Amino acid sequence: MEYVKITENLTMSRIIQGFWRLTDWNWDTETLAEFMRGCIARGVTTFDTAEIYGNTVCETEMGKVFEKYPEIREKIQLVTKTGIKKIAGMPYGDGKVVKIAKHYDTRYETIKQACRDSIERLHCGYIDLYLIHREDPLLDPHAAAKALLELKAEGLVKEIGVSNFDPFKFNALNNCTGGQLVANQIEFNPTCYEHINSGMLDLLLEKQIHPMIWSPLAGGKIFTSDEEPYAKVRAVLEEIAERHNTSPETILYAWILYHPVGMLPLVGSNKLHRLDNAIAALDVKLEHWEWYEIYLATGEKRMR
Ligand SMILES: NC(=O)c1ccc[n+]([C@@H]2O[C@H](COP(=O)([O-])OP(=O)(O)OC[C@H]3O[C@@H](n4cnc5c(N)ncnc54)[C@H](OP(=O)(O)O)[C@@H]3O)[C@@H](O)[C@H]2O)c1
Repeated sequence: MEYVKITENLTMSRIIQGFWRLTDWNWDTETLAEFMRGCIARGVTTFDTAEIYGNTVCETEMGKVFEKYPEIREKIQLVTKTGIKKIAGMPYGDGKVVKIAKHYDTRYETIKQACRDSIERLHCGYIDLYLIHREDPLLDPHAAAKALLELKAEGLVKEIGVSNFDPFKFNALNNCTGGQLVANQIEFNPTCYEHINSGMLDLLLEKQIHPMIWSPLAGGKIFTSDEEPYAKVRAVLEEIAERHNTSPETILYAWILYHPVGMLPLVGSNKLHRLDNAIAALDVKLEHWEWYEIYLATGEKRMR
């Protein structure tokens, strides 16, 4: 495994395990603990979650493992996020109707309390990397920065960052923190070029910040969907995989790892053999021109 030194306080594994889908896995605490041990044995020591995953249940389930087996928590870097809320709103009409109110909340007090709540659910003592989950149209970067910096000063979080931010919002919050954001967790795969198009990757390159990459396999659709963009990418990956005598999945991870910004892909599968396919990508040497074969696969991008 490769490790990336983010700051003096934080080093992350190049391949990260994501737990977004944990509530679909229907695992008990022992099965989850065994899976986490399998990740750690492979050197995958950075784990990603968020308060909104399973509407806090994902953090709770992970926390049951860390409470029972504190040695697992000690071996990992824990990333969690705040800002997306799903609550039962006020009853209205005849009093029986309760709207489920999904909304963002990145106000100063909410961030502070959310962090304390996550730490309690996770039984983790502190959070290694704490992220604002999504751009919030009501985000006041001065207030959010104050909350994040205080959490750092209180020792509740080691480092701070964001997820899904565009360059303008990233710069606004980053400037208010005095340049202390160390991450932007973004979607990137050959069917999703939002952050190439926005210039986000250029900004991160300039600042030498490693993006964490979610849905590197487009949520699995690159290998399961017959819709055009996914099928086209799959066909190119299969051809290149044959040349390199490896799996198409490994080639896709190698394509993500090849970018000079130094991406850290998040694996979303609950199968350790699929985590092995991601790890194998660290040993694949793609030809420079092969990167463009995949880049151009869907037809969205053209050479001029
Ligand atoms: N910051 C954000 O806004 C945000 C958003 C989404 C996700 N995330 C994070 O990123 C992590 C990864 O995202 P993701 O789960 O969408 O990643 P992903 O790796 O693109 O997708 C994982 C899904 O693909 C399936 N899959 C993997 N390999 C496959 C194959 N060869 N054939 C068929 N299906 C395959 C997996 O099923 P199996 O389990 O059966 O293998 C799983 O359902 C999440 O866990 C979360 O931590 C962050």
